[in-house]
Amino acid sequence: MPEPDAPDPVAELITSLAGTGYIADRELALVLHLAETLELPVLLEGEPGVGKTAVAEALATAKGARLVRLQCYEGLGAQHALYEWDYARQLLEIRMAEARGSVGDELRSAVFSPEFLLRRPLLEAIDPPDDRPVVLLVDEVDRADQEFEALLLEVLGQFQVTVPELGTIVATKKPRVVLTANRTRALSDALRRRCLYHWLPYPTVDREVRIVEARVPEASTELVQRACALVAQMRDRAYRKTPGISETVDWVRALTAMGGRLDADSLRDCAGCLVKDADDLTRFRRGEGADLLRVVGTG
Ligand SMILES: Nc1ncnc2c1ncn2[C@@H]1O[C@H](COP(=O)(O)OP(=O)(O)OP(=O)(O)O)[C@@H](O)[C@H]1O
Ligand SMILES: [Mg+2]
Repeated sequence: MPEPDAPDPVAELITSLAGTGYIADRELALVLHLAETLELPVLLEGEPGVGKTAVAEALATAKGARLVRLQCYEGLGAQHALYEWDYARQLLEIRMAEARGSVGDELRSAVFSPEFLLRRPLLEAIDPPDDRPVVLLVDEVDRADQEFEALLLEVLGQFQVTVPELGTIVATKKPRVVLTANRTRALSDALRRRCLYHWLPYPTVDREVRIVEARVPEASTELVQRACALVAQMRDRAYRKTPGISETVDWVRALTAMGGRLDADSLRDCAGCLVKDADDLTRFRRGEGADLLRVVGTG
């Protein structure tokens, strides 16, 4: 049984994330805490704009860690994820050595030394330049191909990288790993199995109010509450592009800059912050915007 007033590490994590401006709920903080305790990667899935990338950035700041970010895309391969040799500099070195009359094995080991290695994010996370802890963010992993997933599995399984010319580089301290995905492609079971999984939902109105207050401190409480209530209603109405938290933040920022009112005029003028699709905009302008305003009150 825990002591009645033993410190609650999950509550502490929520507080330190809030100190960076990131408002996490208990479920998310619990997964992050467990991942640290069990030394497992976290796989965060969720709709666009719900705070998947931002939480890894906030975690790194909260822990005083270096954030190493690998942005995934189709065709991402080892040379952009792990390392590659700096051929241009190697060639230059060889030319200069030839001019000096030096050739052979000595030159070969000189140009295949760490100085000529371009360290990409996975290698940087395993072998950082100083002893600060590392948070490795593998962002939008579902955009990369399956071959990359295999490479990632290998690296995350052993936390070591073999560079044939240099040998095997082993992590002295495992980085904390956060993977994010938008479900654009199904991820392999092998990858899922190795991670702690969390689905990041749209926030409750209360949490979104706290997020917007943290991001737009100049906005009035009344405006923030009505704006977040209106966005929550929109999310229930199956728009083609459901607004994420970043849209709410931008919208409240725009409304504040335009005088701080949420009425028919400001709703029309600032609609582009909230609605990001032509059909949605038509629907919004043909009466749904006014209807949403009625639901949250005219202020
Ligand atoms: N819990 C939160 N606390 C504070 N700010 C948040 C939170 N969640 C999201 N945000 C804000 O919303 C913005 C969008 O979040 P983020 O880019 O992390 O979303 P995402 O889930 O990674 O989206 P995508 O799938 O499009 O990459 C961030 O810049 C951040 O300012
Ligand atoms: Mg993101």
